[in-house]
Amino acid sequence: MENAVRRIGVLTSGGDAPGMNAAIRAVVRTCTHLGIECVGIRRGFNGLINGDAEVLDYYKVSGLSRQGGTILYSARSEEFRTSAGQEKAVNTCKLLGLDGVIGIGGDGTFQGLHALSKYGISVIGIPGTIDNDIACTGYTIGYDTACNTAIECIDKLQDTMQSHERCSVVEVMGHRAGHLALYVGLSCGATAVLIPEKPVNFEEDVIEPMRRARLAGRTHYMVIVAEGVGNSYEMADKIREITAMDTRVTVLGHIQRGGSPTARDRVNATHMGYSAVMLLAEGKTDRVVCQQNSKFIDYDINEALTMKKGIDEDKYTVMRTMIGQGR
Ligand code: F6P
Repeated sequence: MENAVRRIGVLTSGGDAPGMNAAIRAVVRTCTHLGIECVGIRRGFNGLINGDAEVLDYYKVSGLSRQGGTILYSARSEEFRTSAGQEKAVNTCKLLGLDGVIGIGGDGTFQGLHALSKYGISVIGIPGTIDNDIACTGYTIGYDTACNTAIECIDKLQDTMQSHERCSVVEVMGHRAGHLALYVGLSCGATAVLIPEKPVNFEEDVIEPMRRARLAGRTHYMVIVAEGVGNSYEMADKIREITAMDTRVTVLGHIQRGGSPTARDRVNATHMGYSAVMLLAEGKTDRVVCQQNSKFIDYDINEALTMKKGIDEDKYTVMRTMIGQGR
């Protein structure tokens, strides 16, 4: 069967995520396999506006699966939000002879791709964000590595908190979502986990679990706070005020976005990159590659953008049970 595209571009946009490079590699190698040319667009949609591009071939992407970050750089493009910016990007596509673009990123990236599709360019999105906050997919590239990085840091913190009999407030990323915080909290056996999807009752959710742990002889505590909940330093002040515990704040920040991807992120990113090219080759456009129940499927981009992702209620219930709440 003849491919529906001859030459395509691939870009990464928004916050970077471990595994993006593995997806780029898979896009390039699947293109080679199908006889499609692949051009790497640097700096997200800005690269499409400015023609910042290079041809990528099979050997240029060797060894990329294990590399964190993105070799194509990433950016959030303000100019691309304007129709003037979009028209410039379309002109670049014409100049470079691109009939398709694959974008790896979050919802903002998919919005950009959808805008591009209105000008007749075929587009496919791949979910790449450590936040795992994309509704149409159970998995996003980078989430697994970010969880593991956070856990590794928190395990280290537990050692020193134990030695000094302290309370640790750890802020994890996640943008406006609490998926990362919930997963990390569950994995590290936190005393309390606060996420933006659920109302926070400070006394019940933080102080009571600490008191119960204290009565049982525990002398150090780990409170995990999703960045979307609010100010972790104010939270620590409150804990100090109410319990007189020596309390320290650690904001894990961008550490969570770096590092070599886990096996899960490498393999899923590779599969998603492969699927994205196959979709373009089959003549599909305006789709997002997703993973649901371990299967890779695709969704209409617009539909995907209107879907809302709630927190995993089962995991939330398990977490509350583990910390002795919610009876
Ligand atoms: O979306 C990924 C993410 O790391 C969020 O968790 C965080 O809120 C945001 O990006 C940070 O963005 P920046 O790198 O622009 O500070």
